[in-house]
Amino acid sequence: MKLNIAVLPGDGIGPEIVEQAMKVVKAVTKKFNHELSYEYGLTGAIAIDEVGDPYPENTHELCMKSDAVLFGAIGDPKFDNNPKAPVRPEQGLLAMRKKLGLYANIRPVETFESLLHKSPLRRELVEGADFVCIRELTGGIYFGEKGRKDGGNTAFDTNTYTREEIERILKLGYEFAGKRNKKLTVVDKANVLESSRLWREVAQEMAPNYPDIKTEYMFVDNAAMQIIQWPKNFDVMVTENMFGDILTDEASVITGSLGLLPSASMGIHTSVFEPIHGSYPQAAGKDIANPIATILSAAMMFEYAFNLMEEGKIIRDAVAASMTEGYVTVDIAEGESFKTSQVGDWIAEWVEKS
Ligand code: IPM
Ligand code: MN
Repeated sequence: MKLNIAVLPGDGIGPEIVEQAMKVVKAVTKKFNHELSYEYGLTGAIAIDEVGDPYPENTHELCMKSDAVLFGAIGDPKFDNNPKAPVRPEQGLLAMRKKLGLYANIRPVETFESLLHKSPLRRELVEGADFVCIRELTGGIYFGEKGRKDGGNTAFDTNTYTREEIERILKLGYEFAGKRNKKLTVVDKANVLESSRLWREVAQEMAPNYPDIKTEYMFVDNAAMQIIQWPKNFDVMVTENMFGDILTDEASVITGSLGLLPSASMGIHTSVFEPIHGSYPQAAGKDIANPIATILSAAMMFEYAFNLMEEGKIIRDAVAASMTEGYVTVDIAEGESFKTSQVGDWIAEWVEKS
């Protein structure tokens, strides 16, 4: 199979972790005799510095003509405390989501046996937790009408959703639940928000079409609590953009392995695969960052964008082997630790030799 990939390393540790994932991608494509072509593109703070735009038009064209996008991370502290910065790296991410129509952000929450002791939760609560958060990504308050009035002293952001936007994300939620444990939790704030009432209305209309799936409704504040109290009760959770932003951070941290979790953003055009963690600027260039979340994002890329399940699995097996054998970076090492580049080499070699 011919695989055309756009590679967007971004800022901070982005370039070094993406480099490791690319080692693994190359090893896998070689092993399975695929034809790989890839091209690098600029995004984030580095793109602002170089061309004044965090998601330049030629990067968008590259993404559009590729079959999948492998993304590192964006963000640079020099923008964080300047609310008046005219362009911000995050705008690049939002522009990419909107222009590629990436309406679904999929974040699997899985635990790793060897890291359970790092979870902020007691082992018995979190051991075996395995669910997927599906966050709507191109609607809601992130993209609604916003502005200032009253001479700048009143600010507003509007949370708008259309029936079509809600239907397509719920449909994806039902598809995931159908392939998993047949439970869909729709998270909203229908006791207060009109937009949430539309979500619930649409979900209630759709639920009878999926008789083998149990649809459950939960207010977002309660969901925030249940994620910590009973994480094992969730299978697939679906929610709007901002609730999903908050809940997915919460959900990822209960596993004790934020640095290990991948994600996929899918929708109308090319899908994007990226680690959940950010650009970790303090570690940039030090060869210490954990590349596993990006390597697992590459596994998701094989599975979701190319439907190459065996290729995805071999990456997952290689990652598991690196953890069992202790070839890991300092953040999760028990004794001896290895550099970012060494972990990348080890996992790529494991793939080649297996
Ligand atoms: C995320 C991030 C982004 C978001 C930021 C960087 C714009 O927090 O991907 O979750 O809020 O969506
Ligand atoms: Mn976030």
